[in-house]
Amino acid sequence: GRDILELQGMSVPEMELILDTAREMKNVIDRDIKKVPTLRGKSVVNLFFEPSTRTRTSFELAGKYLGADVVNITTSASSVVKGESLRDTLLTVEAMGVDVIVMRHEAEGSSHYAAKVVKPVIVNAGDGQHEHPTQGLLDMFSIKEKKGSIAGLKVAIIGDILHSRVARSNIWALLKLGAEVRVAGPRTLLPRDMDRMGVQVYDRVEPALEGADVVNILRIQKERQQKGLFPTAREYARLFGINRARLDLAKPDALVLHPGPMNRGLEIAPDVAYSDQSVIQEQVKNGLAIRMAILFLVLMGGTNVETSA
Ligand code: CP
Repeated sequence: GRDILELQGMSVPEMELILDTAREMKNVIDRDIKKVPTLRGKSVVNLFFEPSTRTRTSFELAGKYLGADVVNITTSASSVVKGESLRDTLLTVEAMGVDVIVMRHEAEGSSHYAAKVVKPVIVNAGDGQHEHPTQGLLDMFSIKEKKGSIAGLKVAIIGDILHSRVARSNIWALLKLGAEVRVAGPRTLLPRDMDRMGVQVYDRVEPALEGADVVNILRIQKERQQKGLFPTAREYARLFGINRARLDLAKPDALVLHPGPMNRGLEIAPDVAYSDQSVIQEQVKNGLAIRMAILFLVLMGGTNVETSA
């Protein structure tokens, strides 16, 4: 149906429709129009079992700017703490008659499960190490906005690929849209099956950066590394951290992306994070546009964006 679960299964026309709609939504944001009645009478629940700043807030603002009612369920303050299951939590939210459930959960496939269990539209806001489709789409938007198109670009994804749902969503989208994708990180943070996905895999960062048009730097996910951080933070920063000298191996106009939150000084040096090449702050703004587009499309199913109040 209209669920947004993953980019692996999303067609290029679907992705393009979301990106084009987000372009219109960004024009709305840029004109500082923060209230339109488009989604009046619709309700959106943010159901987050893992922490979030960007995704949760931007879905909330996206819904509110478009006139929907938005409720946040932070599971640490919910009956999940009393042992209520995912299934029963979803059924409870459904019983309140909501139209969309935006869900982040630590288990891979949890959003597919939710889509089978309940009728409201499910939007995956990150399921374990599987996918984070709205992040992938906002990254495609950010690249396209600066580079014009994605086909033919050399994109280096650097860091903790193994634990990264952002890496997976980016890889699927970039490959479908015709980019050349390189991934680089320490062997301990590279999945074994990555070359079968159709990307070039490097266990050193320098060759992956050479001539790159886009450098997407991922967070080292300490919370998902059960056996301790290997390499250590100091070793990681020395061997893989993106500093000015390493960034200079990429094209002079290479874009720097990071989904956030950043470990500044670990995977990314401060002067790279805040350089002219960085679009990290713009990614956050684009995330709002993408989430407005997604809520609009899943709820209204149309292509005409109503922007007048
Ligand atoms: N990039 C991202 O998903 O950030 P949050 O975890 O803050 O939502």
